[in-house]
Amino acid sequence: MSFNPLRLLGISLSGVVVLGLCLSPGLSSAERATLSNPLRFDKAVVVSQDAIASRVGKAMLEKGGNAVDAAVATAFALAVVHPSAGNLGGGGFLVVRLPDGTARAFDFREKAPLTATPEMFLDANGRYNRQRHHWSILSVGVPGSVAGLALVHTRLGKLPWKDLVEPAVLLATRGFPVSRGLAESLAEVLPKMTKYPASMAQFSRGGTPLGEGNLLVQADLGRTLERIRDQGAAGFYEGETADLIVREMERQGGLIRHEDLRRYQAVEREPVTGTYRGYKIISMPPPSSGGVALIEVLNILEGYDLGNLGFHGSRSSHLMIEAMRRGFADRARFLGDADRIGVPVPRLTSKEYAAKLRRTVLPERASRSSPETFEWPTGNSETTHLSVVDGNLLAVALTTTIERYYGSRIVVPGAGFLLNNEMGDFNPAAGLTDSQGLIGTAPNLVEPEKRMLSSMTPTIVVKGQKPFLVLGSPGGRTIINSVLEVVVNVIDHRMSIQDAVDAPRFHHQWLPDRVFTEPFCFSPDTRSALERMGHRLELRRLPQGSVMAIAVSPNSGVLDAGVDRRRPDAGAAGF
Ligand code: DON
Repeated sequence: MSFNPLRLLGISLSGVVVLGLCLSPGLSSAERATLSNPLRFDKAVVVSQDAIASRVGKAMLEKGGNAVDAAVATAFALAVVHPSAGNLGGGGFLVVRLPDGTARAFDFREKAPLTATPEMFLDANGRYNRQRHHWSILSVGVPGSVAGLALVHTRLGKLPWKDLVEPAVLLATRGFPVSRGLAESLAEVLPKMTKYPASMAQFSRGGTPLGEGNLLVQADLGRTLERIRDQGAAGFYEGETADLIVREMERQGGLIRHEDLRRYQAVEREPVTGTYRGYKIISMPPPSSGGVALIEVLNILEGYDLGNLGFHGSRSSHLMIEAMRRGFADRARFLGDADRIGVPVPRLTSKEYAAKLRRTVLPERASRSSPETFEWPTGNSETTHLSVVDGNLLAVALTTTIERYYGSRIVVPGAGFLLNNEMGDFNPAAGLTDSQGLIGTAPNLVEPEKRMLSSMTPTIVVKGQKPFLVLGSPGGRTIINSVLEVVVNVIDHRMSIQDAVDAPRFHHQWLPDRVFTEPFCFSPDTRSALERMGHRLELRRLPQGSVMAIAVSPNSGVLDAGVDRRRPDAGAAGF
């Protein structure tokens, strides 16, 4: 068996299931049909995109830590073992529901540097420069992850901070065996990293991608993690780590300086809440668009009997597409960093507003998205979600991102972590709206220290007094619809959580006016029916999202893991 540094911490391999068949029956509710039995745990479980990271979280729970401790330790471990999305150099959101029923949201989204301007992605001739927006040192936002994890731990954690960071230190310094998924993703990304020697050094052996089973040792990252372990957030935002970040910024002409790092603060916010068919929805407020859009779309859908219309029937799908279209139109119009601009959250999430929107939906006819013909850029970007529920039913949903796959691809020399390219989530420039994929609406333009709009949707659904679902996903703007579809699959179509996660997905985001579908999403009959109604369908070969979910049985309190197999390496660990 390959070397496993976690054994040094007494973290065992048992109780971890990457993929597997569960022999227990489906959820206790008799009418809930189950095709693929969820992995089931009696007391506590961590679900994340990497089985090693889930195991780290489980070890914290076994030590007497709570779900927050487990989430923080899992997130640090993901920064080592899942470098395409797990991060120190990015940002994220965490939604938590405490056993007393109160819920809190933590915002550690990246910020624009102090010297950022709305025109920073234009060239000397005033032309938009896509490279600069998404793939340059200017695309790096001031990182928030370490500040966020430290804040959450200070407010709600139980175990000592050092205990939560130590497993990540060991994974980085001693190394871990590269999984098949990681080997594949490194082989894909390395050719795009060649101009960054520190990135190449970190993720290859002299330019050759590491293969499955090779040990990946990240010594610089280990030292950065040791500073974070020993000094808390100051180990990242001050001292040597800060110096290394600023040195790279100066070398490449980036904007982040010590002042930006010193001023960065994670923020605790009121979660955004709503209801859906008697369930309470708790999700992330701005600067995420996720919670607001999710609740707005669910409110519209509440007026229809989706359950009876059936899973992926033409009418139920039509209604979902129309609801998505309206939610995403409002996202573009109204949403941005609410610390900087007014966002009408109560109105957008109200039942009255949803009723008004519902009146604009025709029963069997697609509406057209607005005459403005702009589209949002699409592309492969990278984010990761983890969910935890502990023995006291403390529930944590944490989504974290460096935006694209391996972020900016820039590893900070000497510090061993990848920088995000989250500035690409800002609109490129005022009024710069065209049919080629640019959007220039005001709420999400760059301003110094503003947080860029996100779609991350860490969400907790509550039934009665207990958490019922904990979930979230990567996938850029598709995140909102992936979360929506899993919620509808469980509540309306009465699927088990694993079936709900496995079910094929579709996505409409207002513009472009198309329904993007996963393979096997609709039958030919349903496709034809939707097309006759006026919907334009487009098959996407890439999977939509990667939902990491937990369902709590309302009766027994048993925990079912919904592990998305669309991407490799995901795993649930619990007991
Ligand atoms: O915050 C956001 O909405 C994006 N930066 C998330 C990117 C993402 O989900 C990529 N995942 N595959």
